[in-house]
Amino acid sequence: MVKSVKPSSELLSGAKTPTQETLFTPRFYTTDFDAIAHMDISAHEPELRAILEELRADYNRHHFVRDAKFEKCWDNIEAETRIAFIDFLERSCTSEFSGFLLFKELSRRLKNRNPVLAEAFHFMARDEARHAGFLNKAMADFNLSLDLGYLTKNRTYTFFPPEWIIYAVYLSEKIGYWRYIIMYRYLESHPEQQFYPLFRYFESWCQDENRHGDFFKALLESQPRLWNNWKARLWVRFFLLAVFVTHTLTVFERAKFYESIGLDAREYNTQVIHKTNETAARAFPVILNTFHPQFFSRLEQCSENNLKIAQINGSDRPRIVRFCQKLPLILSTVWHCLRIYLIKPIDAQSLRGTVY
Ligand SMILES: [Fe+2]
Ligand SMILES: [Fe+2]
Repeated sequence: MVKSVKPSSELLSGAKTPTQETLFTPRFYTTDFDAIAHMDISAHEPELRAILEELRADYNRHHFVRDAKFEKCWDNIEAETRIAFIDFLERSCTSEFSGFLLFKELSRRLKNRNPVLAEAFHFMARDEARHAGFLNKAMADFNLSLDLGYLTKNRTYTFFPPEWIIYAVYLSEKIGYWRYIIMYRYLESHPEQQFYPLFRYFESWCQDENRHGDFFKALLESQPRLWNNWKARLWVRFFLLAVFVTHTLTVFERAKFYESIGLDAREYNTQVIHKTNETAARAFPVILNTFHPQFFSRLEQCSENNLKIAQINGSDRPRIVRFCQKLPLILSTVWHCLRIYLIKPIDAQSLRGTVY
């Protein structure tokens, strides 16, 4: 029997503690829909229409079908791997579903006002619904499922102005692409590590994320104020850093899952970040210098602080004691982030034409 899970509120059938809503769990977003409806996209309309036609072609319409390989019992997966894997599924499903809700709402609000964008968001919502649904079915194989209706109503919606949405969604689509494809390629060469058939779907799946990212890139390029001034350069660095810190923290928190498929968490994190940063050079005016000697050591220091904070949160010491223990770790994390932010960025505009 499938047990429906109300995330972040109840214990899950004794299998795991549900993901608590923190700064780093996938969020649900809302934005200024009127401002997006009034965006002048004419400068890049041919490019946006070309991607719209690709989305309409729906190359993956027959891809998300569970084959016979799923029809077996998964009780043989040992407890630690199982918990780490379910955690991975829950987080991925929530984040795909968050994309679905945002795109669906954008499509609904922009209909008749900005038809090119409305239609593209409609197709992207279709893709994200498939992704979330497929992950939720995988969770059902472990007798769990996310209650997506409950999530829709009970998660807090974070307001992001349109420009933040464009930076953040562009990056999350591109980092999603690299996360899926790197895992897929690794497991393709180590088939003995595939303990569950989900990973075989990632190759075509990540092409959806890549197309979504390309759409947001064209949208960003159509709005010069998002890349042609000093404020934009500062924001871009901030979003790159925020996405990379979040990625590092979550990968190291779930190191057990990566180990379970034989992937080294550190190597995986490093590779995903280098690749995403390099890809972002095609859209952003600047990118971060991920090859700076302090870049990853400081990121990993943030992760160590985060793991210590989690340990303190899990202890039964009085609240004030926990706060005093956490404070230096929080300050240290802020300090490391600030130092990474201040590393001289790389001018992406001068790199264009060479990074492909
Ligand atoms: Fe997706
Ligand atoms: Fe996507």
